[in-house]
Amino acid sequence: MNFDNKVVIVTGAARGLGQEYARQFARLGARVVACDLRDCSDTLAAVEDEGAKGLALNTDVTSAESTKEMAAAAVDAFGGIDILVNNAALYGSLTFAPFDKLDESEWDSTMDVNVKGVWQCCKAVVPSMREREGGAIVNISSLAATYGMPNGLHYTASKAAVIGITRGLAREIGRFNIRVNTVAPNVVNTDATSEVFGEKRDKIVEVTLSQQAVRKPLETEDIVGTVLFLSSDMSKLTTGQTLMVDGGTVML
Ligand SMILES: NC(=O)c1ccc[n+]([C@@H]2O[C@H](COP(=O)([O-])OP(=O)(O)OC[C@H]3O[C@@H](n4cnc5c(N)ncnc54)[C@H](O)[C@@H]3O)[C@@H](O)[C@H]2O)c1
Repeated sequence: MNFDNKVVIVTGAARGLGQEYARQFARLGARVVACDLRDCSDTLAAVEDEGAKGLALNTDVTSAESTKEMAAAAVDAFGGIDILVNNAALYGSLTFAPFDKLDESEWDSTMDVNVKGVWQCCKAVVPSMREREGGAIVNISSLAATYGMPNGLHYTASKAAVIGITRGLAREIGRFNIRVNTVAPNVVNTDATSEVFGEKRDKIVEVTLSQQAVRKPLETEDIVGTVLFLSSDMSKLTTGQTLMVDGGTVML
């Protein structure tokens, strides 16, 4: 697989999984635009360490204006956009609680970032992908959406909506040779996961593993290959799909 001359935007790329996607796209020759509300300079350094060109942007995925600026900056710097990874989300900072105890403003912000943010970014990049007569969008959902995570209904609902966006948009823009797919990981060992589960983390990982067919804990590098595959021409007739990376917990 190689991404020579491809231009990739990764949202939520300042740390965790997004940073790892950015690094691995760079390793395979892509020019990488790393976007986040947080500072992406570490990610840009990682991209440049791989010998690739990159750009670090301060982007709010919920904002039409900010995502338009993101797309314009990518086009200005690198001539167009081929791939978008919609990875930005509220996850680590969320309060997980029974459905009737969730905070209403947190429900709204989760939908704003995890659902509307995906839509805004897709709207921003599709014009350039159409100009280039093709593209690939990979949306990041979660096992929560397919398994039904208890005590996280806002997060679960938002990640199920990501699968809906994937299917609807794949049908709408397939005729422009733009593919839209979803990757849905199980619990991955990231800073955000430690923030979510706190001192219960080891117990949660143990329970999670007991439900996996392949009983290995997921690390960031375990998710990357599936994202790269769905971004590459190797999957050129795969669209509207959701690929689980969950050690065989949910089998679709
Ligand atoms: N870590 C896991 O176990 C796991 C499992 C399944 C799915 N996921 C999904 O994978 C993705 C990355 O997870 P992670 O563990 O690396 O989490 P993370 O919190 O480290 O990464 C999310 C990034 O999104 C950014 N972000 C939040 N709101 C934003 C906004 N409005 N605009 C731009 N950027 C914004 C954050 O600043 C953060 O850097 C998320 O979509 C998450 O839901 C994670």
